[in-house]
Amino acid sequence: PRDTIALRNGYEIPCIGFGTWKMPDGETGLEAVHQALSDGYRHIDTAAAYDNEETVGKALATAGIPREELFVTTKVWNSDRGYDATLKAFEESRRKLHLDYVDLYLIHWPAARGADADWQRTNQETWRALETLYLDGKVRAIGVSNFKPHHLEPLMDAAEILPMVDQIELHPGCNQQVTREFCNRHDIVVEAWSPLGSGRVLQNQLLIDIAASYGCTVAQLCLRWCLQRRAIPLPKSVDAGRIAENARIFWFDLTDEDMQRIDELDPLGQSGLDPDTVDF
Ligand code: A2P
Repeated sequence: PRDTIALRNGYEIPCIGFGTWKMPDGETGLEAVHQALSDGYRHIDTAAAYDNEETVGKALATAGIPREELFVTTKVWNSDRGYDATLKAFEESRRKLHLDYVDLYLIHWPAARGADADWQRTNQETWRALETLYLDGKVRAIGVSNFKPHHLEPLMDAAEILPMVDQIELHPGCNQQVTREFCNRHDIVVEAWSPLGSGRVLQNQLLIDIAASYGCTVAQLCLRWCLQRRAIPLPKSVDAGRIAENARIFWFDLTDEDMQRIDELDPLGQSGLDPDTVDF
């Protein structure tokens, strides 16, 4: 879990992260983050909207791991879009996390057509705040989440600093080929949220059969498929056994043929959260 890759600016990001969406605040969450850290995860992914930044912050502060070994991501929520609101939201996240810098700060969802007639401009203004935070040294890297190429393009046209990461729903059954290829071309690292399809793909017979042929679990197969598609998986679990299981994905390689068989499962077990229509 300590293997890293370099973002466009040279900053190192660990190639597996611990996801915390739906991780409860309080004792359960605290134990889960401690468990993840003791299993070797060094990359923790949270968001203002997950309502668990304080728990994550408390877990990090009490784990006794040097700050420079940790990689912490959080995200600005939709109701805080725009330059001033984003700067303010960042300060709130930073306070809850008890950090003096955040490793990666993301725009959680694109403002998109329908909800906001001037959505491109809204994204550009939010992005300008992320650039300010980056230039002020309060964040080590900046990026977006749930952006498709048609959201990224207008943002990149206006940007001074290009996004380094795009975090999207990615799992067997949701292979996101178009967005992944766009990101690869533009040196944007892809991160995978719900890499297990939030558990929805684990009963698939093809995945069960392929996993059996490697002697891994279906969850490990999903995570390995992500890695080999050049994405950083962010599995979430609050169970000690599964947290450890999800970190053990560096001992096997999927063949090109199996990678393709998994690609072809698309669509399967998708969340249905479409960035162009979702209305939070
Ligand atoms: P739990 O937290 O009880 O382990 P995703 O990261 O795709 O959103 O998936 C998270 C869901 O999958 C959670 O419901 C989590 O439950 C479950 N899960 C996480 N890891 C595993 C695993 N290795 N095997 C089976 N289910 C898992």
